[in-house]
Amino acid sequence: TEFVQVGELAKKLNVRAPEIIAKLMQMGVMATITQSIDAETATLLSAEYGCTVEVISLYEETLIQEESDEAADLVQRPPVVTIMGHVDHGKTKLLDALRETDVVATEAGGITQHIGAYQVTRPKGKITFLDTPGHAAFSAMRARGAQVTDIVVLVVAADDGVMPQTEEAISHAKDAKVPIIVAVNKIDKPSANIDRIKQDLAKFEILSEDWGGTTPFVPISALQKLNLDKLEDAILAQAEVMEVTANPKKRATGTVVEAKLDQGRGPVATILVRNGTLKIGDAFVVGLEGGKIRAMYNDRGQSVKEAGPATPVEILGLSGVPNSGDILNVMATEREAREIADKRQELARHQQAQQVKKVKLENFNETI
Ligand code: GTP
Ligand code: MG
Repeated sequence: TEFVQVGELAKKLNVRAPEIIAKLMQMGVMATITQSIDAETATLLSAEYGCTVEVISLYEETLIQEESDEAADLVQRPPVVTIMGHVDHGKTKLLDALRETDVVATEAGGITQHIGAYQVTRPKGKITFLDTPGHAAFSAMRARGAQVTDIVVLVVAADDGVMPQTEEAISHAKDAKVPIIVAVNKIDKPSANIDRIKQDLAKFEILSEDWGGTTPFVPISALQKLNLDKLEDAILAQAEVMEVTANPKKRATGTVVEAKLDQGRGPVATILVRNGTLKIGDAFVVGLEGGKIRAMYNDRGQSVKEAGPATPVEILGLSGVPNSGDILNVMATEREAREIADKRQELARHQQAQQVKKVKLENFNETI
C-alpha cells in the first residue's frame, strides 16, 4: 500500500487542507483531513502545484544502523546469563544467593512474575543475570530471554529431575545456539541424585564433562550456598572462551527487559544495555516510543549517570511504555529520535509492517 495523509500532503504542498479536500472532490475522491490517499492520486494532485512524488518504504526509514566499531575499542564485557529451569527448582533462590539478597521473601507466593535483571560483581569479574518466570504461560517471554543471552544456566533440582519446563529450556537454548551450564540444585536434600540428572540430560545430548561431554555440571545448593563460586567460575570460564566483547565508546543499544506505567514516575523500563554506553540526557528511540534519558537506576535502585555494555538499568524519560523485547537505540539528536518514533507509530497504525510504502513529496515551491 502506498499512501499519504491528506493533512500531511496539504502541509507539504504548502496549501490549506480544505483546498486540497475540494480538489480531491473534483477528482472524485472523498477524503477527510485525517484520511489517506494513494500515491497515484497524490501524484496527480501534486502535479497541479508543481510537485513530484516519490514512493518510499516507510519501514526502511525506521531502521537504524548501529555504529561500527574500531577493533581497538572492543573490550571484554560481562556475560549475560539466563537462569532457566522447571518451576520450583530454585532459580530465584539461586539468584538470591548470588546477590546475597532475598527476592524470594518479597515475591507474592514466591513465584517470579516478571523478568528481573541483575548484575553481580565477583572477584573474577561481573556477571549479568536474567531471572525468568517458571510457568508455562510465560514461555514466550523466556524464549525471548534466551536471545539476549550468552549463556544459559539450567537449574535442575537433584531430587526431582528433568521436567517438562527443563525440556523447554533445553530447546530454547539449543534454538538460540546458547551454551548451557547445568546447575544441579538442592544437593543438600537426602533424596538428591546427581547421577540420575546426568543420565536424564544425556538423552538430550547434554553430556557432562566427566562423562566425556562438554557441558559443565555444577552440583550446588542455593539454600545452603554450596559451590556457588564453582558455578560462577564455570560461567566466567565459558565467557572467556566465547570472547564476549562490546564497544563502550559508541552510542548505546539495548533491549527492553520489562516496562510499565508507574503511578508517580510515568513510563519506566528496565533496559539491558547490549552495546555502547547509555548516558543521562541521551535521546533514544525504543520500539514505537522516543525519549530522552532523564534518570537511570541500577538493579539496586541507586541512581547512576551512565551504564555500559551488559548492564541492566531502569530508565525514566520515555514518551510511552515500550514492549518487552523492543530494541533501544540512542540517536544523535532528539529530533532524529522523534522522527523515527513518529514513523514507526505511523507504520503501526497502518499495520502492514514491511509492505507499507509512503509517498514522499519533493516540494519545489518550498524554499530551503
Ligand atoms: P519459579 O519462579 O516458581 O519457577 O520457581 P524457582 O525455580 O524460582 O524456585 P525458587 O527459587 O522459588 O525455589 C523453590 C523452593 O525450593 C523454595 O521453597 C526454595 O527455598 C527451595 N529451594 C531452592 N533451592 C534449594 C536448595 O538448594 N535446597 C533446598 N533444600 N531447597 C531449595
Ligand atoms: Mg522464581
